[in-house]
Amino acid sequence: MSITKKFLANTKSGLKVESYTLSNSNGMEVDILNLGGIVYSLRVPDRNGRIDDVVLGYDDIESYLKPRGAYFGAIVGRHANRIGDACFELNGIEYKLAKNDGENQLHGGIKGFDKVIWQAKVIGGDNEKLQLSYLSKDGEEGFPGNLEVKVIYSVTEENELKIEYYAAADKDTVVNLTNHSYFNLTGQASGDILNHKVMINADKFTVNDDKALPTGEILEVQGTPMDFTSLTEVGKNINSNYDQIVFGSGYDHNWVLNTKGDISKMAAEVVDEKSGRVLEVYTTKPGVQLYTGNFLHEAETGKGGVKYDKRSGLCLETQYFPNALKHKNFPSPILKAGEQYRHVTIYKFTLAK
Ligand code: GLA
Repeated sequence: MSITKKFLANTKSGLKVESYTLSNSNGMEVDILNLGGIVYSLRVPDRNGRIDDVVLGYDDIESYLKPRGAYFGAIVGRHANRIGDACFELNGIEYKLAKNDGENQLHGGIKGFDKVIWQAKVIGGDNEKLQLSYLSKDGEEGFPGNLEVKVIYSVTEENELKIEYYAAADKDTVVNLTNHSYFNLTGQASGDILNHKVMINADKFTVNDDKALPTGEILEVQGTPMDFTSLTEVGKNINSNYDQIVFGSGYDHNWVLNTKGDISKMAAEVVDEKSGRVLEVYTTKPGVQLYTGNFLHEAETGKGGVKYDKRSGLCLETQYFPNALKHKNFPSPILKAGEQYRHVTIYKFTLAK
């Protein structure tokens, strides 16, 4: 649980990008950038003690600044996932947001939290943690209120990457923060994740329209390809003709977690029998988006020159349900002025028994 810092690059637009390496005594190492709070690399041992980087990303820092990119490893905000018609009403005022996904807004707009420099500070005494702070100004990407955001990353001796999110605003606003890491537990350079097995502790999911936007309807997973209540291979039903799968070109949906914000219960699990690596997810958030990298394509050159084809990684984005501002039956992402947003998510790495 110590942190070392290094300068990485100056971008063409003049951003000074630094990397912070968080490590523990088991050989787990996580590199985090001050750009977008990006999890740049995450190295953990497999069942034979071999260390691999299990998250997708770029070597070339400029690639992280591409508009409408893949959001590899980034903190996503002010509002993760989609807001329909890029607008919402709050206290009788209609707020028009930046559109970057057809008529909708995705992942905070054109220049979301993934594309800005955060103030980095090492805190925590003996157990060092990395604190990233960012002030999102009133009106940024159309959102109301100055929002002070803090994200604290730490790596524990239990091989956990813990992410704590805090935010407070001077006007009523909306906040839905998440991390957009793409995991490939065999290693980032090892092809697709179709053989990974996934469990999502959820009996229900939110139904999407053909633009991946929740309609408000909540359905039981039972008897559908959305059923991950027990460990199931990602590839088992990924090419099914079930309309939800067709709309998403695979999985790109929000599940309604049975854990209901209880971080002591497992929200999701991923098992890779090849390497023996297991990822467990715990969260205080009510939902999780399983996205199976359906929009990745070979043109995407990743770390070490690897071509990331479709489904080279999977994301488990803990969140409020997308488009919740339009659906009263979804938990509300509204943050009142002066109140504190707090969310904790833990990605824990273990080995298969
Ligand atoms: C999320 C969305 C997807 C896609 C990715 C980034 O998971 O739900 O539709 O936009 O982010 O490519």
